[in-house]
Amino acid sequence: MSATIIDGKAVAAALRATVAARVATLDFQPGLAVVLVGDDPASTVYVRNKDRAAAAAGIAARTIRLPADTTQAALLAQVGALNADDTVDGILVQLPLPPGIDPRAVIEAIDPAKDVDGFHPINVGRLADGLPTLAPCTPTGVMRLLAAAGISPRGARALVIGRSSIVGKPMAALLLAADATVTIAHSRTRDLPGECRRAEIVIAATGRPEMVRADWIAPGATVIDVGINRLADGRLAGDVAFEECRAVAGAITPVPGGVGPMTIACLLENTLTAAIARRGVPPAGD
Ligand code: GUN
Repeated sequence: MSATIIDGKAVAAALRATVAARVATLDFQPGLAVVLVGDDPASTVYVRNKDRAAAAAGIAARTIRLPADTTQAALLAQVGALNADDTVDGILVQLPLPPGIDPRAVIEAIDPAKDVDGFHPINVGRLADGLPTLAPCTPTGVMRLLAAAGISPRGARALVIGRSSIVGKPMAALLLAADATVTIAHSRTRDLPGECRRAEIVIAATGRPEMVRADWIAPGATVIDVGINRLADGRLAGDVAFEECRAVAGAITPVPGGVGPMTIACLLENTLTAAIARRGVPPAGD
């Protein structure tokens, strides 16, 4: 058997088009502010892509570039100014931040209503409680991919490998909210291959290239690869050994072209959600 390849580029393009169509019906322009501190090359590329995608969806995107030696106080002042700016519906401070700045302090300074990353403790708590909220973009993108591929988490055994605040923990919360039976595995998990073999849905978010092997995968399982790792030879690899796992899985995401494009599409969706909630616009369909 060869797995269905879940096409994240196509699903993301459809979501971006849906967001753009809804933005076009509004009598105001949603605003997104992205803050980049320093000149980390990967972050610079991500931020440029976010900015372009927002503009293409009709969102007023602005990138605020601050030097690497910016103090925490100056960054907090910048976040405060964006909180107070009524034209800004979404605020994203690109991580990682340079040494000397506490990311927690910065995240907690963002107005939870504008927290389009879903990282503020208020939004984390609402998600953990199963309440509607701005949820982190990458795990939300994974849920959208599962839905687009017709894979229901309800009642399924789902394994999330990785327990980061950006992906693993919110991923588990979203799967639980969708009625999956969720296990979170991590670097201290005993018998990770065995845990994996029991899962009907595997979400790999470890940051270890090609760690998940074919003999870890139950025949027909769904395998979602959140990893993006640059190998020594310049190639991009996920956390899943794609070529061997696709022969066993029922459905699988490629890297690139799987989860990656969904993150930005979900950021646009969160910006739209924040904008209509802040400005009291009825949700679509009302
Ligand atoms: N760095 C890597 N992923 C993310 C993300 O989803 N949001 C932010 N703000 N920074 C990141």
